Amino acid sequence: MPAQSVIVPLASQHARFMTLRFASGSNAHLKAAIGALLDACEALRQQYPQANIKTGIAFGLAQWQQLYAHSPEHWHDLQARAGDFAMPAIAADVFLHIASEQADVCFALVQAFMQACGDVVTVLNETTGFRYLDSRDLTGFIDGTENPQQADERAQAALLTEDAGEFAEGSFVMAQRYVHHMKTWHEQSIDSQEKIIGRTKPDSIELDDAVRPANSHISRVIIEDDTGEELAILRHSLPYGNASGEQGLYFIAYTPDLGILDAMLDNMFGTSGDGLHDQFLHYTTPVDGAYFFMPSEQLLAKIIA
Ligand code: HEM
Repeated sequence: MPAQSVIVPLASQHARFMTLRFASGSNAHLKAAIGALLDACEALRQQYPQANIKTGIAFGLAQWQQLYAHSPEHWHDLQARAGDFAMPAIAADVFLHIASEQADVCFALVQAFMQACGDVVTVLNETTGFRYLDSRDLTGFIDGTENPQQADERAQAALLTEDAGEFAEGSFVMAQRYVHHMKTWHEQSIDSQEKIIGRTKPDSIELDDAVRPANSHISRVIIEDDTGEELAILRHSLPYGNASGEQGLYFIAYTPDLGILDAMLDNMFGTSGDGLHDQFLHYTTPVDGAYFFMPSEQLLAKIIA
């Protein structure tokens, strides 16, 4: 019952993210489109083994309920936040996360999907992500330093376990596009930028507690359980953008427990009740956002059969 191939491996050079809405009553089209994507994937893997193609197909709660009689426990939609900063949440039915060492195969796969959809689909967003320099966000900071690196830790941070029955090896996923305010960001000194993120810029060393502000990005997203154990998520975020247009981060995280993401978002957006928010939100703005569930390969095959 393996997890879908994009979740556990380390990020590739290229990715394509799509959030989609399907017209009601279009389950047959959706199933055919998923089949077309998986067939194209198999053919391209044979043709370009070095491309290391990985795919992930996930569903919004309302769409899932039309496709399958049971749902994993504790699944809820992402709630918009209206704290110190506003955070939108959108209603999306399907999320595609395609990754590869080759940008062209990412394109070929989403194209195979879209061609099979006919006119029942509305594209809410399509973003082309790329690894930038040594895994840096466009702010210049290394993104992913504290992400779990070993396969077993990555699986543990992302996947539902066998207790979840047929949903084991599945994962909840959050996708949210952030637009950076690059000009204002670059007006900040390196010292201020480091205090905003909570790590050093060249080499991503965590600032000492004595100097790291309580409202730095990492101070807001490090959360612990009742026993003081840090709670991890598995991030797959990538930069995107055009030099002449919007630039930012496509944030994406996998987790078996949406409560972890909810707590991080409350801390960031100023809705956790402690009067603080993430300083980094003065320099970046989320423009969409949704939670999805990505079933195991086996359950996905059952759903589209
Ligand atoms: C850490 C950037 C949004 C959760 C980091 C780091 C950077 C970064 C540079 C430090 C290096 C690292 O450990 O990866 C960004 C940017 C964002 C963003 C540019 C959006 C524009 C988010 C969101 C969440 C989040 C929305 C959660 C809902 C985390 C976590 C860590 C982290 C859990 C690791 C904290 C630790 O254990 O030290 N982020 N982040 N980030 N971020 Fe974000």
